[in-house]
Amino acid sequence: MKDTVLDKYIPIGTFADSPQYTNNTEKKLYVETYGCQMNFADTEIVNGIMGKNGYDVTENIDDSAIILLNTCSIRENAEYRIYQRLNELKKLKKQNSKLIIGIIGCMAERLKRGLMTKKSVVDLVLGPDEYRKLPSLIDNLVDNGEKGIAVRLSRVETYEDVIPIRKEGVSAWLSVMRGCDKFCTYCVVPYTRGRERSRELEGVANEVRKLWDEGFRDVTLLGQNVNSYQSGDNDFADLLKACAIAAPEMRIRFTTSHPHDLSMKLIETIAEYDNLCNYIHLPVQSGSNRILDLMKREYTIDHYLSIMNNIKRIIPDVTLSTDIITGFCTETEDDHKMTLDVMREVKYDGAYMFKYSPREKTKAWDMGDDIDEEIKTRRLVDIVELQRDISEEKNKETVGNIYDVVIEGLSKKSDKMLFGRTDGNKTVIVPVNGSASMTGEKVKVKINRANSATLFGEVIHSI
Ligand code: SAH
Ligand code: SF4
Ligand code: F3S
Repeated sequence: MKDTVLDKYIPIGTFADSPQYTNNTEKKLYVETYGCQMNFADTEIVNGIMGKNGYDVTENIDDSAIILLNTCSIRENAEYRIYQRLNELKKLKKQNSKLIIGIIGCMAERLKRGLMTKKSVVDLVLGPDEYRKLPSLIDNLVDNGEKGIAVRLSRVETYEDVIPIRKEGVSAWLSVMRGCDKFCTYCVVPYTRGRERSRELEGVANEVRKLWDEGFRDVTLLGQNVNSYQSGDNDFADLLKACAIAAPEMRIRFTTSHPHDLSMKLIETIAEYDNLCNYIHLPVQSGSNRILDLMKREYTIDHYLSIMNNIKRIIPDVTLSTDIITGFCTETEDDHKMTLDVMREVKYDGAYMFKYSPREKTKAWDMGDDIDEEIKTRRLVDIVELQRDISEEKNKETVGNIYDVVIEGLSKKSDKMLFGRTDGNKTVIVPVNGSASMTGEKVKVKINRANSATLFGEVIHSI
């Protein structure tokens, strides 16, 4: 299969009457990624599969023969953005009818053939478990003009053997499990990503070591629900431990845990190993037990708070973040106030906050969407403002402290500044001080000032 693809795509520019082959872009692939970190990791897997089949990855859309949008379905807005983007891509397709446009990822899985209407510019639709079919579907499209669709979900696919093509850098993503069996009533992920399955422990630990050898200094292990990780008798805490030992200086993070089954063993493992970052993202979603029950989250606020207290007690200086949905069906002002109370009690360092967006086929879809848009918006503003105040207060407490910071590169706002992260995942800005070559180094930084989003400091000395 690989060879056929190569044959098809070797540029034969010597044929003057073959305009489609006059430049060298036939094998160039451009992928645009939307959604969560799992999608970003998947794009690297797609690039790995395509690279092995003779394609070059380009970051310049004008240079590409194939454009893939790796999409997200989590909220209506996420899908709306993709339709807008497809409209823009129409122009490119008009200029170059040979351009191949594909939709991959969660939206492909959810909408399937629905994305291939007559008027649509979409040539390919591939769900998250079908990426190995990309080369042959492209082949068939070029050969026979047939649009390609592959949306079967798998119980076993983990792309274990695929070597992802990652951008050089300091931090890397690494998917350790795929899918979700939780079926929270509002969520499309179990439908778009299918059943839970895990990569083998040794393979993951070896990859973490390899990433260290390649120059990465910070890795995030990914899964929709990492607590369900299982490889033989090993659970997620065992995996973290194995990775911590395989690369003792690599900073290791993970996302996401589910509060229902976050174990004491996991908390204790994080506390035990220095290079397991003292940062936990634990989505609470709502502060009201009644709403949590409707969401089928399988925990109460008391249970959630007791986990948080254990985490704070066992992991010193831990940094905490969460996800919150506001305006879920039947949410009252009292329910909303309970969410604000939980935020005040836990004092999260950060939060991702969303207005509830009903998704077809989920259980909550049938419960209705009875909270007015204005009320949803006002409640969202309430929680965003409260979180901003808490984040600012917590960040200001760091002023005067000294932290180990891994420098990740030049700050986006100024080439006289560098940015990096603390162990607790806080962004820190420091002056360049002569050279930008500190990228990848761990340095000691004294914090001089802070706002709700960022810490600002100076490098004391390299470690
Ligand atoms: N697996 C992770 C996160 C999945 S999606 C977890 O369970 O924590 C990321 C976040 O998007 C969720 O935590 C939730 O806060 C939000 N989300 C999911 N479905 C949503 C919906 N229908 N409307 C609004 N927000 C949603
Ligand atoms: Fe969605 Fe719940 Fe699974 Fe998270 S745990 S991906 S919110 S169903
Ligand atoms: Fe979106 Fe799919 Fe991730 S729906 S949040 S890209 S798993």
